[in-house]
Amino acid sequence: MEVVICKTKEEASKLAADMITAAVKKNPKTVLGLATGSTPVLMYNEMAKAVKARKVSYKQVKSWNLDEYYGLAGTHDQSYRYFMNENLFKKIDIQIKNTHVLNGLAKDPVKECAAYEKQIKAAGGIDIQVLGIGSDGHIAFNEPGTSLASRTSIVYLTPSTVKDNARLFFKGDMEAVPKSALSMGVGTICEAKKIILLAFGENKQDALKGCVEGPMSQFCTASALQAHNDAWIFCDEAAAKKLKLKKYYAWRSATKLGL
Ligand code: GLP
Repeated sequence: MEVVICKTKEEASKLAADMITAAVKKNPKTVLGLATGSTPVLMYNEMAKAVKARKVSYKQVKSWNLDEYYGLAGTHDQSYRYFMNENLFKKIDIQIKNTHVLNGLAKDPVKECAAYEKQIKAAGGIDIQVLGIGSDGHIAFNEPGTSLASRTSIVYLTPSTVKDNARLFFKGDMEAVPKSALSMGVGTICEAKKIILLAFGENKQDALKGCVEGPMSQFCTASALQAHNDAWIFCDEAAAKKLKLKKYYAWRSATKLGL
């Protein structure tokens, strides 16, 4: 696991975006795994800037998103499909037919999730998976207690995630937040060839500590990344405050990134 600690979230987002831009330039048919939430927005803006500057094109890129609220249509302004359209897809030259988000209105969620896994496999698997992290250490919607081998399925949100999500979205209304979702599993996520996890702000200190330095456990599903051989954590100083080996991470990431 490479831990890149930057002074600010802006700096971290730019570095992470540069990594994706470089990968897409090298392989224009890159398969991306994408995440929602407030955290990746700055990185998505940086990716869009690179497209505008004609440094890279997403015309042949395909993407699969991590999750979607169960019961929300993709046209709902709080759905993750809507979020992706607004915050990334409309800003880059990706073909919308090449973007995939689980269908929150699927009548048969088991079938929907199995088909999603099949699509990813048929595309050759995910090259780069982008992740945020929940304040309880979850990735996608894999809440504490989810098997680290889990596959894409219907899952249930913890009250703390419902609260976090209501604070940032749904105009603060906890009742309006769906209590279940369709989500890629931890096992599915860990099959990506490269993983980029972003974590910003004080609210993520404990989650990041669990992810990077805690025991690998289903009680912090982000800790599964410890067993991945190409996982990158881009964080700001506020989120990194509780990490013990900060100096070592800084030295190693600077060496690896050629900074
Ligand atoms: C939700 C999403 C996660 C995201 C998390 C954190 O639970 N399913 O993918 O990482 O929120 O969101 P934020 O980045 O807004 O803190």
